[in-house]
Amino acid sequence: MDQLHKKTQHITKLILKASKAAREETRGDGGYASSGGAVKWPVECTVGPGLEGAIACESKVGYVNGVKGALIYRGYDVFDLCAYSTFEEVSYLLLYGKLPTPSQFEIFKKKLAQHRNVSDTLRLLMSFPVENMNPMAALRMGAHFLRREFSTIDQDDHKPDSGDFIGSDEDSIAMETVPKGSKRAIYEFKRKKQRERERDDGTYNPATGYGPCYSLIAGTSCLAAAIKRVREGHLPIEPRMDLSHAANLLYMMTGKEPSPEEERIMDVALILHADHGMNASTFASMVVASTLSDMYFSVGAGIAALNGPLHGGANEQVVKMLEEIGKKERVKAWFDEAMKEKKKIMGFGHRVYKAYDPRARILLPLAEFFGGKNDEIAHMFEIATLLEKQVVGKLGKEKKIFPNVDFYSGMLYQSLGIPAEMFTSIFAVSRVSGWTARVMEYLENNRIFRPRAIYTGTFDEKYKPLRNRK
Ligand code: CMC
Repeated sequence: MDQLHKKTQHITKLILKASKAAREETRGDGGYASSGGAVKWPVECTVGPGLEGAIACESKVGYVNGVKGALIYRGYDVFDLCAYSTFEEVSYLLLYGKLPTPSQFEIFKKKLAQHRNVSDTLRLLMSFPVENMNPMAALRMGAHFLRREFSTIDQDDHKPDSGDFIGSDEDSIAMETVPKGSKRAIYEFKRKKQRERERDDGTYNPATGYGPCYSLIAGTSCLAAAIKRVREGHLPIEPRMDLSHAANLLYMMTGKEPSPEEERIMDVALILHADHGMNASTFASMVVASTLSDMYFSVGAGIAALNGPLHGGANEQVVKMLEEIGKKERVKAWFDEAMKEKKKIMGFGHRVYKAYDPRARILLPLAEFFGGKNDEIAHMFEIATLLEKQVVGKLGKEKKIFPNVDFYSGMLYQSLGIPAEMFTSIFAVSRVSGWTARVMEYLENNRIFRPRAIYTGTFDEKYKPLRNRK
């Protein structure tokens, strides 16, 4: 029996059942496309609007098979990772390319837990009106503020007293925002002390340092939890070092230690959102990193890109849409009207998947099982499944439109006590693993991203002074 998840075997069974159904339904549907070796650059590809089809880089981090509806992290099927692994292990896998040994895993978990201590950053963040801000805007600001700890410690020739560190007073804010220039930012990626420590614990990568990755993976989850609390009129809660990443996130949000079931469901949701090919937010963070800016700015860019309703913001919109539909008797009429108005149905469709999104395959039974315990969510789930029937019935065959990850995730988060306005932040908290892993990989052979546009403007306009223009 799986010792790690022995209290939540029923959840493992739901995941394995979904996995079996997926494998049976997609048997023979397109194999795994691979370059089969090193790519020869320049590479030829057909590019559509929105960079559809463009190849930006090589990667071993993860793979999305849109025809089959499969998602792979470092060679491992996401179904297996959800069934047997944990978010911490998956983060290690994404960052370092292999599963950890028991001792590497202990060190990794300990380091992540140590980075939960973001009280200084939090004090700075709380000096802004976080309760009135969009949570993603607050999270992005918080991610940038996390940089302070490293940027201060990094200055080997000017080691500050601990009292110098971080405060929420205006002086310290002004002092920290003094621009450091590009030399300092490059140093963020290649910190000598960090490298030495990583060499000691076996997590060393010659090209880069991982400190900012730990800081951001652990830190953003604590910041998101604190943002939720403050928005609800409560004070942030101190992290617990003895809890898993998922359990601590729930604990810091709700103030209650989660049940093994709640912890597992959160953990599975975090695993499912951790990486997803060259999606918009991942690409945004890689573009920023490719200028040799730093990991904090890169993750900040990822958070900004994820926020939009066409990307991570869709999960919040789904719940709003289901609330707007309101009753199961209204589903068909609502959908017909939406089609007439050529509306995009939130939580459906995907640039890559032309089959059922494997993440939705897992989230659906979890939302049914866990959400079913709450009448309101069970009602919403019923509306959702009826809507899915309508959408897939009309658009599935013709346009290959199926539910994506955002369709069922919101209901699951709601059943864990997370309000809709925090859904996208929870997505971000998980995706930080993918962003950092792909940035670290790209930086090993960095080349600044610089595509071009086809100029369709005019060439021979004659300049008229302002006063002569009508
Ligand atoms: N509802 C209705 N029709 C759709 C939908 C949808 N959700 N998505 C795509 N279509 C139609 C679209 O109207 C178009 O039809 P036609 O060829 O007749 O003009 C066709 O399918 C292709 O759509 P597209 O907009 O060109 O596809 P895209 O690859 O540019 O966009 C997408 C992908 C995810 C932005 C889009 O499917 C969408 O807007 N979905 C709703 C928002 C959503 O759920 N986003 C979450 C995506 S998954 C998680 C994540 O990335 O964060």
